[in-house]
Amino acid sequence: MKQLHTNRFRANRLSRLGSSIFAEVAAWKREAASGGTDIIDLGIGSPDRPPTLKVRQALGEAALREDMYAYPATSSGMPFKEAAAAWMAYRFGVQVDPVTEIVTLMGSQDGLAHLAMAVCDPGDTAFVPDPGYPIYAASMALAGVEPVFLPLREENGYLPDLDSIADERWDAASFILLNYPNNPLSAVADLSFFERLIAKARRHDVLVVHDLAYSEMGFDGLEPPSVLQVPGALGQAVEFHSLSKSFNMAGCRIGFLVGNRDAVGALRELKGNIDYGVFDPVQEAGIAALREAMSPNGGPAYPKAGVIYERRRDILVEALREQGWEVEAPKATMFVWAKLPALRDENGDDWSSRTFSRHLLRQTGVVVIPGEAFGAEGEGYVRIALVEDEDRLLEAAARIGAFLKRRDMVG
Ligand SMILES: Cc1ncc(COP(=O)(O)O)c(C=O)c1O
Repeated sequence: MKQLHTNRFRANRLSRLGSSIFAEVAAWKREAASGGTDIIDLGIGSPDRPPTLKVRQALGEAALREDMYAYPATSSGMPFKEAAAAWMAYRFGVQVDPVTEIVTLMGSQDGLAHLAMAVCDPGDTAFVPDPGYPIYAASMALAGVEPVFLPLREENGYLPDLDSIADERWDAASFILLNYPNNPLSAVADLSFFERLIAKARRHDVLVVHDLAYSEMGFDGLEPPSVLQVPGALGQAVEFHSLSKSFNMAGCRIGFLVGNRDAVGALRELKGNIDYGVFDPVQEAGIAALREAMSPNGGPAYPKAGVIYERRRDILVEALREQGWEVEAPKATMFVWAKLPALRDENGDDWSSRTFSRHLLRQTGVVVIPGEAFGAEGEGYVRIALVEDEDRLLEAAARIGAFLKRRDMVG
């Protein structure tokens, strides 16, 4: 039956797609820019560097070929899936069948948005982290799946306490979605955590869904592991991979889901009804990126993404600490998850992450994302993305320092 909608031609479901804070931050930013403020945008985690020359050449050369404009043949045995399987073996020692255990995606977001619809029925429940990347809960809203939020807290190293979840909850859940290295927390998980996770999930027959979008962005020599490295994990888990951050290809939409063949098959079946796959030249660019990563001497054009962000991390963290803001240094990703300094408004109330971010942007032009955008547990923090060059990061830190001193309330 036709529902009464708040707006004409707009489903109420859209209101459940997650936080409106990103739109709000964008509005503050437009307002500041229109007033002539020089904006330093450390908001959205979009890489500021291009992919390597080899990747751009592969894309350009493929785009010039006449035979690249048919519907992409993604259903079986495409070379991108083979390159992805080879990369899983090279990087993690994980052997998978590219035909049945990988599905190519228009960026991992495509798969994250659709997986709940592919593997759950309305009324099912699934575990989702809080704070968490917004599409996780949004995809469940679209699929009619009830989210059970797992708080990720500093005192537990930002890992969920798997044993604190009642057995009945585990038994009822369809899947558990986790993400390490984590956006927005920058927290990492080691293989022993994944072993416990897989054992628990197996006992309760829950699908483990791991988002490994930041696999190549470990710092200080850290090589983030894949959940599929756990022996037998292919029976219980799938993992999202993205070329967006690791290879600076965010706009060149490509990623993949790898792992359990039933879940991979379900997503492939759903997507077979929704889209016709990734443009072949983009797949060629993806192949070039993965091959370059696998070549032992990728050459000077190929510093791992993590190297750049590690240096930026060092610079920003040190500069903020010099300004009196004791932020935690991340071990991976492109984000600093910073606990708010103690600031109070005129009524003596603590500033929320939203108030802090709004004042900071209006007064300094520096854009950060309020932690609340990622869930209730994110309150009290802001996320700072390392997506500007070193000079701009130093400039941002200086402006933040002046802002804090003006408030004279550094905590
Ligand atoms: C944790 C996480 N997963 C997935 C994505 C989506 O990436 P993609 O560009 O592959 O769709 C992002 C993008 O910011 C992310 O932070």
